[in-house]
Amino acid sequence: MNNYSPLENRYQSMPYKRSGRSGLQLPAISLGMWYNFGGVDPFENGRAIARRAFDMGVTHFDLANNYGPPPGSAEETFGRLMKLDFAPFRDEMIISSKAGYDMWPGPYGEWGSRKYMLASLDQSLKRMGLEYVDIFYSHRFDPNTPLEETMGALDTAVRQGKALYVGISSYSPEDTRRAAEILRQLGTPCLIHQPSYNMFDRWIENGLLDVLDEQGLGCIVFSPLAQGQLTDRYLGGIPVGSRATKTERVWLTPDKVQHNITRIRKLNDLALRRGQKLSQMAIAWVLRKPQVTSALVGASSVPQLEQSLGALENLSFSQEELDAIETILKE
Ligand SMILES: NC(=O)c1ccc[n+]([C@@H]2O[C@H](COP(=O)([O-])OP(=O)(O)OC[C@H]3O[C@@H](n4cnc5c(N)ncnc54)[C@H](OP(=O)(O)O)[C@@H]3O)[C@@H](O)[C@H]2O)c1
Repeated sequence: MNNYSPLENRYQSMPYKRSGRSGLQLPAISLGMWYNFGGVDPFENGRAIARRAFDMGVTHFDLANNYGPPPGSAEETFGRLMKLDFAPFRDEMIISSKAGYDMWPGPYGEWGSRKYMLASLDQSLKRMGLEYVDIFYSHRFDPNTPLEETMGALDTAVRQGKALYVGISSYSPEDTRRAAEILRQLGTPCLIHQPSYNMFDRWIENGLLDVLDEQGLGCIVFSPLAQGQLTDRYLGGIPVGSRATKTERVWLTPDKVQHNITRIRKLNDLALRRGQKLSQMAIAWVLRKPQVTSALVGASSVPQLEQSLGALENLSFSQEELDAIETILKE
C-alpha cells in the first residue's frame, strides 16, 4: 500500500549541480546506504530516513551489491522501499549500485571481470526490483583484470539497458584517466568518480581533482563526515551504538577517534563560531571544491540527516576560516 506523498515543495531549497560535463544534475547532498539500511537494521528507521531525504530534495540514493550487513540486504531494503513508497517517483530518482567487493564464493564473486560485473548487476537489479540503475560503478580498480575488460562490462551494462550512466570508485588519478579514455572510445562516457574525501582524508587533492577537470568527470565524495568523526557524535566520549563501537564496521575504531579527538574539538569550536554544527561545516568544506558535484552522507537517524542538510544554509568560507581549518588539521 502506498501511503507516502512527498512534500510538494521538495525541490525548493536543494541546489543541483551538473556531474562533470554530462547532462545529469545531482543534489548537493546525496544519501548513502552503506550502513543503517541492512537486514540487521530496523526497517522503519531506514524508511523514515529515505522518505525524509526525498522530501528535502535528495534525489540520489547510493547503494552497492555488498551494502548491509549482511551483503545484499541494503539493496533488498531499498527494493522494499521502492515498492512501498517510491515506485511512483522512479523518474525523479537517481539510484546507483556498484560491483567490485566480495559477494559470492569462487573466482567470479569479486573484483572486475566481465563475468562478475554483469552477473552482479543482474543480482542487484533483482534485489531492488528495478529494471535499471541510473549509475553503475566499478567499486574498485582490479590490478589483475585488463581495464578494457572492466570498462567494457560497464559499457555493456548501458547497452543492455540495465544502467543509464557509469562510474568508477576510488581509482587512482592515472587509472581514472585511462578508464575515462577507454569509456569515451567505447561511446559510454564516464559520468562520475566516487572517492573518499573529508578533512582527515585529502588524497583526491593530490592529482585526482585535476584529472576529473581534464576528463570532464563529476565527483561524488563519500564519508564527508569521516564516518561521524566530524560531528558532535564523539565529543563527550564514544557512545554505545555509534559506528566506532560496532566491531564488524572495521573502518572506524575507537582508537581512530581517540587519535583525532583534539582536532575534532577545535574544529567543533570553529564551526560554532561560524554559527554551524561541525557536521555542517564538514559538508560545506568538501563542497567548496568546484569539482565536487555532491557530498554523499550517511545517517542513522532522521535528525542526523536533517542536520547534514542544514549545511546548505551556509556553504561559504572566508579565507581566515579556511586558514584556521588548515592550521588545526596540521596539528
Ligand atoms: N565507494 C566506496 O568505496 C564507499 C565507501 C564508503 C562509503 N561509501 C558511500 O558513502 C556513503 C556515506 O558514507 P558514510 O556513512 O561513511 O558517511 P559519513 O556521512 O561520513 O558518516 C555517516 C555516519 O556518521 C554519523 N553521523 C551522521 N550525521 C551525524 C550527526 N548529525 N551527528 C552525529 N553523527 C552523525 C552516523 O554514524 P552513527 O552510526 O554513529 O550514528 C552516520 O551513519 C555510504 O553510505 C556509501 O553510499 C562509498
